[in-house]
Amino acid sequence: MITLVENKEIEKQYEYMEKVKQKVHGLKYFINTMGCKLNENDSEKISGMLTEMGYEETNSFENANLVVFNTCCIRENAEEKVFGKLGELKNIKAKNNMIICFAGCMSQEPHVIEKIKKSYSQVDIIFGTHNLYKFPEMLYNKLESQKKVFDVWDIDGEIFEGLPIKRDGSTSASVTIMNGCNNFCSYCIVPYTRGRERSRKPEDILKEISGLADEGYTEIMLLGQNVNSYNGGDGYNFANLLRDIDKIEGIKIVRFMSPHPKDFSDDVIDAIAECPSICKVIHLPLQSGSTAVLKAMNRRYTKEQYLELVDKIRNKIPNVSFTTDIIVGFPGETEEDFEDTLDVVSKVKFEQIFMFIYSVRKGTRAETMPNHISEDIKSERFNRLKALADKITEEENIKYIGTIQDVLVEGISKTNENMLTGRTRSNKVVNFKGDKDLTGKEVKVKIISEHVWHLKGEIV
Ligand code: SAH
Ligand code: SF4
Ligand code: F3S
Repeated sequence: MITLVENKEIEKQYEYMEKVKQKVHGLKYFINTMGCKLNENDSEKISGMLTEMGYEETNSFENANLVVFNTCCIRENAEEKVFGKLGELKNIKAKNNMIICFAGCMSQEPHVIEKIKKSYSQVDIIFGTHNLYKFPEMLYNKLESQKKVFDVWDIDGEIFEGLPIKRDGSTSASVTIMNGCNNFCSYCIVPYTRGRERSRKPEDILKEISGLADEGYTEIMLLGQNVNSYNGGDGYNFANLLRDIDKIEGIKIVRFMSPHPKDFSDDVIDAIAECPSICKVIHLPLQSGSTAVLKAMNRRYTKEQYLELVDKIRNKIPNVSFTTDIIVGFPGETEEDFEDTLDVVSKVKFEQIFMFIYSVRKGTRAETMPNHISEDIKSERFNRLKALADKITEEENIKYIGTIQDVLVEGISKTNENMLTGRTRSNKVVNFKGDKDLTGKEVKVKIISEHVWHLKGEIV
């Protein structure tokens, strides 16, 4: 329930935005976003607030008077990069009279805050994932007092509606439908950084998407750590939400991530099958193909249950394809366990696999599990998985050659300015010659060759 108090809170933040605007003239901001699409969506909100406060966006640290690190701690390498960059900024901070803000998932980790307090005096403002909406107030206080403002909550923040948002894309927009996660997969830090699951109200989500359709957006990405446990109240579930979004005029493609295999109900499968706008590429995180490893990961499905789910979805949605996430080298993973993962990959033939080497996270259950895997074995397994995935991609791509595909044009190719780029309904990247005015339109393209990462074609 959105209470009056919460609206008042947002009203108060708008007042702070106005007060900052009075003080700020000709200043520039840069947001460094790491991590997942939820973080990207949060950055769009931070961007919206800064724009409202009179700041202008710039695309480099060097030109910025205010920098926000919107951080991720899902794996160790993401964390290391941030501290490196913070170190580099020490020199230009004085020159630009720069305010450095530290936000996102790393802010929710007590050991990170300690490290900043001890060794990174250049950081001016810290806020967490639960109190992002208070950023205008924190910035105002910093500008007024010149004192550091560190404010991180370890309780679940309420869902805030009505903040300004400055979106990155012009045809595709992300919409967060829920915050947090209740699953506690034993390797994962997210439940600790994002708190428990809280769903937005259906009417708020539908209103936002209708507004996006009115602004000309045609593609929507629904976001949450576990979207199929969305709970809109009074029995309104994720399938209801998909059906209602499908009815919104102007929205041509609806994607969502991530669903959890254990919560993939028949109702959701039916909704995907029945609704023309719902994308028939489903991201279905596997993590491991071994039942023993899945149990240790606390995923709550077996290898067989995962494969049965894939079959069930394929029977109901004939043109469906799958993408997935896989972790190699989870503690205790044996050669046989890893071969089970390869076996599932061979059977499902994923359209795309996001592969990760297990990275130990402080405070998670897997941290203290026995039999951590050596770096050598982890990278050897990673390479074997990648080789198999590449072979399957090539085999699957070859099947496209000679077919005619509906391709949604995204614009001029980043790697070749004479070509347009777009995606098939199954999310394959296709490059082809054509007029850039076709951007945002769907065209028919005949596929002529495959190049592992993309297909090449001709408009027919
Ligand atoms: N909620 C989503 C995923 C969020 S994180 C889901 O359940 O699928 C994105 C991916 O990062 C995960 O799917 C997992 O494959 C990977 N990941 C998470 N924690 C990790 C860790 N400690 N080491 C390596 N990869 C990890
Ligand atoms: Fe992490 Fe598991 Fe939650 Fe995904 S479902 S965010 S992997 S705990
Ligand atoms: Fe990273 Fe937080 Fe997303 S840890 S993956 S930014 S939810």
